[in-house]
Amino acid sequence: CGIVGILGGVAAAPRLVDSLKRLEYRGYDSAGVATLVGGELQRRRAEGKLRNLEGALEKTPLEGSSGIGHTRWATHGAPTVGNAHPHQAGRVAVVHNGIIENYLDLRDEITAAGAVLDTETDTEVVAHLLNFEIAKGASPKDAVATVLPRLNGAFALAILFAGEDDLLIGARKGSPLAVGHGDGEMFLGSDAIALSPFTDRITYLDEGGWAVLTRTSCEIFDAGNQPVSRPEARSSVTAALMDKGNYKHFMAKEIHEQPEVLGHTLSRYLDYGAQSAKVAGADKIKFKDLSRLVISACGTAYLAGLVSKYWFEKYARLPVDIDIASEFRYRETPMSDKDSALFISQSGETADTLASLRYCKEQGAAIGAVVNVPESTIAREADVVFQTIAGPEIGVASTKAFTCQLTVLAALALQAGRERGVLSAEDEKKLVAELTEVPSLALKALASEQAIEKLSQTLSQATNALYLGRSTSFPLALEGALKLKELSYIHAEGYAAGELKHGPIALIDENIPVFVIAPYDRIFEKTVSNMQEVAARGGRIVLITDQKGAAESGNAAQDTVILPEMSDIVAPIIYALPVQMIAYHTAVFMGTDVDQPRNLAKSVTVE
Ligand code: G6P
Repeated sequence: CGIVGILGGVAAAPRLVDSLKRLEYRGYDSAGVATLVGGELQRRRAEGKLRNLEGALEKTPLEGSSGIGHTRWATHGAPTVGNAHPHQAGRVAVVHNGIIENYLDLRDEITAAGAVLDTETDTEVVAHLLNFEIAKGASPKDAVATVLPRLNGAFALAILFAGEDDLLIGARKGSPLAVGHGDGEMFLGSDAIALSPFTDRITYLDEGGWAVLTRTSCEIFDAGNQPVSRPEARSSVTAALMDKGNYKHFMAKEIHEQPEVLGHTLSRYLDYGAQSAKVAGADKIKFKDLSRLVISACGTAYLAGLVSKYWFEKYARLPVDIDIASEFRYRETPMSDKDSALFISQSGETADTLASLRYCKEQGAAIGAVVNVPESTIAREADVVFQTIAGPEIGVASTKAFTCQLTVLAALALQAGRERGVLSAEDEKKLVAELTEVPSLALKALASEQAIEKLSQTLSQATNALYLGRSTSFPLALEGALKLKELSYIHAEGYAAGELKHGPIALIDENIPVFVIAPYDRIFEKTVSNMQEVAARGGRIVLITDQKGAAESGNAAQDTVILPEMSDIVAPIIYALPVQMIAYHTAVFMGTDVDQPRNLAKSVTVE
């Protein structure tokens, strides 16, 4: 979910909506705002996308220059108007991101005390608890100080009080929240993007921290309710509303930005002159002394990590222990201060990834983060940040951030190889020269778009699909299936091609498209054998390969997507592009909401 709060000098509602537009990537199943009009709390809320809330505000505008706003990704309670934030109890209105884990106990307590609950949400109990304290005579600030320690879970809150036109209180525990400083104005927002229309002067709240704002003051307290001072930083996020340019969707724009952003990322991590990897801060990871590297992430970022396992093991002889963050965080992996761990995240806010990071930190491990948002929590808590230079990614399905993550990880693998004395200067030069070709190869890969679009029209008839690949094409097969299912809602599975015979082969018939990702490499023949097994059972094959691969594959494939020939290390970066385009165009033919697929969110700050 996304949160914004404003104590301003002009009407708050349009500004809240402007900010929520930038936060819509965090959730978009309902939205709402509350302002203070003549000291009274007034709300407008709507189900579905933000434009519905805009419509509601056009019909019945909201006055007032103090307000809070929210865009929701439902956790407790269906995405209805009634469950949309802000939630109100008496004099208190609250917007909330995250989960109040003990809300059932709290709900029993407040209903026993006479509160009547209007919603199924965990948020409403917070409003009631605060309202009880105020009814007992507590000031808003004291009410917050009393209630916050009673809330378990990971959350961020922004709270507005009736009769208090110059007061806004924000709190964070686990979910991100930042204070924005204006001239005679003060703001709260989930991230710097939300605050970008108002100010670039930002204070990030610490874990457990909370802030009491007026238009001209900002008091910050720690989890023990002690006053603390926190530094003000300058954010680099630009205020320009991200626009789609000439593209129909952000996802299309972001796919096409890849040649450029991959170039930016490469130049940050490669020394073209010396033909070597040059990763500033890599010494913190202590590659030379490691007996293994721990990697953890979620979704597409996890799949980037899975590709890098092949690289770290091959080019640096460094064993990699990789796991999905939601599993890793509770696995109780033995670790020590001799370990190093890498966390990969576009947003830098994913709750499970952050929790895994904190676990490793507690065990004394050195922490590296591959993130796209340098102001994010994961970036701030890591010992060293390897930033992907992908620029803001708005489409919910990650594209350019994924390939930039791969690029950073490839450079890190080479750096590790050199530091561990595994990679000779000559080998490193050769690999760097190969990576240097990534932007131009990406451009060539985009040239297959028309063919893919045509193909996708037929594919959009399918109800199931399979993706197969070996080696670094295996994580790509997982990514292909993930993208296809999340965008087009076609059920898709990704498998290691060699695993086909152990189960998924039972699914093969003429109705199921089977995508085979197979650059012409050392194990091409092995993948082709698996492809023949599919062909023998009447499967409809789409082969993604190069000219040589197409020539050597026999006649098994009905369709072939041809990419340029390339070296092993660049293949997963470039082969990601057709995989993205297949999902994109299939979804466009299906008529689904490409940039904001149902039930998903760009940044998942809950468990
Ligand atoms: C969500 C997004 C995915 C993303 C994943 C991890 O599921 O929809 O596109 O890969 O979160 O997000 P992160 O920001 O940590 O990379």
